[in-house]
Amino acid sequence: MCGITGYIGREEAIFVLLDSLKKLEYRGYDSTGIAILHEGTLTVRKAKGHITVLEEKLKNEQIRGQAGIGHTRWATHGEPSDINAHPHTGVSDRIAVVHNGIIENYLRLKEWLQAREVVFKSETDTEVVAHLIDYYYRQGSGLLTAVQHTLKRLEGSYALAITAADYPDRIIAARKDSPLVIGLGKDENLVASDIPALLAHTREVVYMEDGELVVLYRDHVELMNAQGDHIVRPPSHVDWDADAAEKGGFAHFMLKEIHDQAKALSDTLRPRIKTGEISFDEFDFDEFCGRARRIVITACGTAWHAAMVAKYAFEHFARIPVEVDIASEYRYRSPVTEENDLFIVISQSGETADTLAAMRLAKKGGNRILAITNVVGSTLAREADLVLFTMAGPEIAVASTKAFTTQLMCLYLLALKLGKLHSRIGDAEYRACIEDLGRIPSQAEKILARQDLIQRFASRQFNKQKVFFMGRQFDYAISLESALKLKEISYTHSEAFAAGELKHGPIALVDKDTLVVTIATQTVLFDKLISNIRETSARGASSLVISWEGETSFESVADEIFAIPKTRDCFSPLLSIIPAQLFAYYCSIQRGNNPDKPRNLAKSVTVE
Ligand code: F6R
Repeated sequence: MCGITGYIGREEAIFVLLDSLKKLEYRGYDSTGIAILHEGTLTVRKAKGHITVLEEKLKNEQIRGQAGIGHTRWATHGEPSDINAHPHTGVSDRIAVVHNGIIENYLRLKEWLQAREVVFKSETDTEVVAHLIDYYYRQGSGLLTAVQHTLKRLEGSYALAITAADYPDRIIAARKDSPLVIGLGKDENLVASDIPALLAHTREVVYMEDGELVVLYRDHVELMNAQGDHIVRPPSHVDWDADAAEKGGFAHFMLKEIHDQAKALSDTLRPRIKTGEISFDEFDFDEFCGRARRIVITACGTAWHAAMVAKYAFEHFARIPVEVDIASEYRYRSPVTEENDLFIVISQSGETADTLAAMRLAKKGGNRILAITNVVGSTLAREADLVLFTMAGPEIAVASTKAFTTQLMCLYLLALKLGKLHSRIGDAEYRACIEDLGRIPSQAEKILARQDLIQRFASRQFNKQKVFFMGRQFDYAISLESALKLKEISYTHSEAFAAGELKHGPIALVDKDTLVVTIATQTVLFDKLISNIRETSARGASSLVISWEGETSFESVADEIFAIPKTRDCFSPLLSIIPAQLFAYYCSIQRGNNPDKPRNLAKSVTVE
């Protein structure tokens, strides 16, 4: 996820900015950049790669100035490169902008600017912001007015910091749906996307709200709302240490990333919904996917579980046959490929060796490849024919959480769009589904707000010898992912079963040391599940059921029930996995493990 920092004060800005960028490194990034203001000049330097690459570039330069902005970039539009790195500048190179978030209407704005002879240098969405401010400025607006005009035209999410050569005494920053914090110092003021970037200078901070803009001067700040009315907000005192600050106040990255999901889901969904329709700027969907008579999906681990959910979703919405295989299996089969197969590969990192090998095999067999990944510039993204990026931001904890749910969101969008294209879903139903997907981020928030229930449950159950997850259809896929999460970080023996398979063998393992977690969201199959739960309780197992709010069917059979907000049964995986992730996290803590760095596991499996 990109990191922003801005400084105005007594010290040389270059050192302050580089130090604060280092404090944001934990967020993950692929390039860095700074812009420094000094006596009517604006110096911009940026570089692909680690901050040390930028430092090396700056080594023989003396860039003076006590104000400036800086950025660590996590690529979303355009691959990691010097040119795509922030800051971006306008035509005159006298206005510089750094940005977090996604400008959803950037293509339209770009065309509008190109029609006014603006020439673009990068592939980023951010560059339109720099050019728009520059455009209004050249038309005669003052800097603040130029920024305000620009903000009115932006759709999407942003945290922005802006500098202009003609205004060396100030920095402007603005936010909408992307965090920004003002740091109040003595004879110096700062702004940053995250608290750690501020802590070396101050612990007095003002959290900006959506729609707000701030002008930072060396000796004061002016905070205002979207209408330009001034706001006075007393500062908050931060008493986190630097380590807690990096994790946004959460004890571990994994817990932070579980909580990031509401926003990550919204970031993945929102740019792809235009006037109530699913629309992929990335590619011509009808041309690329329309011919598909069969879909083949391959991936590893958690991403393979996303593929399992997708199988049910594609069959449900698009009535197209789907084959799902684990990449390490697929690569050694002699798969039968058809000309009109659509081959989807899913990988958070885009670097998993088995997934890449499976993709290359499919490509060799003449298949068209659509990749779903979280990392722009990854091998998968470069080698696939088309890419759909998840907007999860970097995932640091080894156990995948937000990458999984954002993969699901991409897959649901594809399935719905394909269903619509083949007229397998009616217009009203299609629109209602899109509206339901739009509610998922706030429903995820509601689950997260009740994490203490799961924490208490985990504190009672963490030392169970065996934990089995079961469910049917979509719930079976989520059972697989839930069991993986638990075994990865708590080292508990956990397995997942299709509930109907229980009596074909696994029930022999069930005894009083077993916890059975039933994912129960497929309403038409509730009666079957109730029988399955009874079979396990009769053998002494304790039971937790994850089901819909207001659902009473399981009250007589479950020891405990965790209710999730109601959405369509077919969308339940987006929500039902969240309590299971929290359960795994809290069991790991209770067992004294470090959930961020589980034993024997690596974040990116680049070898076979
Ligand atoms: C589980 C987990 C792994 C990965 C798997 C594939 O929490 O993180 O199972 O899902 O190694 O990794 P990617 O998605 O990077 O291909």
